[in-house]
Amino acid sequence: MTPAKGPRTGGRSTVSLKILMAVTGLLLVAFLFAHMAGNLKIFVGAESFDHYAHWLRRLGSPLLPETWYLWIQRTVLTVALIGHVTAATILARRARRARPVRYAHRAKVQGSYAARTMRWGGVIILLFVIYHILDLTAGTLNPVGDPAHPHANVVADFAPGRWYVTLFYTLAITAVGLHLRHGIFSAARTLGQQTARGERLARQSSLVMAVVLVVGYLSVPFAVLTGLVS
Ligand code: HEM
Repeated sequence: MTPAKGPRTGGRSTVSLKILMAVTGLLLVAFLFAHMAGNLKIFVGAESFDHYAHWLRRLGSPLLPETWYLWIQRTVLTVALIGHVTAATILARRARRARPVRYAHRAKVQGSYAARTMRWGGVIILLFVIYHILDLTAGTLNPVGDPAHPHANVVADFAPGRWYVTLFYTLAITAVGLHLRHGIFSAARTLGQQTARGERLARQSSLVMAVVLVVGYLSVPFAVLTGLVS
């Protein structure tokens, strides 16, 4: 898609890249909410949690052969992630090229903490997702690592003796929260939000969504760490 207006520095227009970032970002946020809802089933019980994981593998059947839905979802998420990171990299390079001489003094106030940490936050999240897939999907880094028993994998992962795993997840999920707080707000602006009232609403709702996700995700490792879930 090539909008009629928008700065163009060769290749894709900046506006198209921002739209690509917003749309792929929102798709990834939708996954995060669905994944969090699934994780919270751990509070219902081991059977419910494992049943949910097995249901996910059979989703779409008999229309689709078993695990096809899961692979379609994985493909869509991977393509969205690649699009998101590629657009972010091109936009960052373009911004740097537009100012070849770096600021002698970086101004102290440059938007919120979340806005200033988007790039590094993104890198941390990417590294976390790779670790997390090896931990809880592939099971290679998990003390149990049994794909048939995700509840046992989660409980073993966040056992009190492995407090450093909970600490690592806490840092990574906080980075997710900060990234989303600014990301959702920016996406609203890219997708046409322009009024002062809309700006306030976008700021508040991005904060609420980020807090809900951080609390929802962190409730699982902390419930295991404190013995509430075992
Ligand atoms: C403490 C919080 C979290 C817990 C307890 C958790 C739990 C799990 C579990 C049990 C699985 C394996 C599901 C299965 O194979 O049946 C999984 C997969 C996954 N998780 Fe998480 N997760 C958490 C946070 C996150 C976060 C913050 C992200 C993204 C930033 C994320 C992204 C993924 C992805 C991409 C997969 C692979 C899904 C697939 O197999 O296609 N998770 N998670």
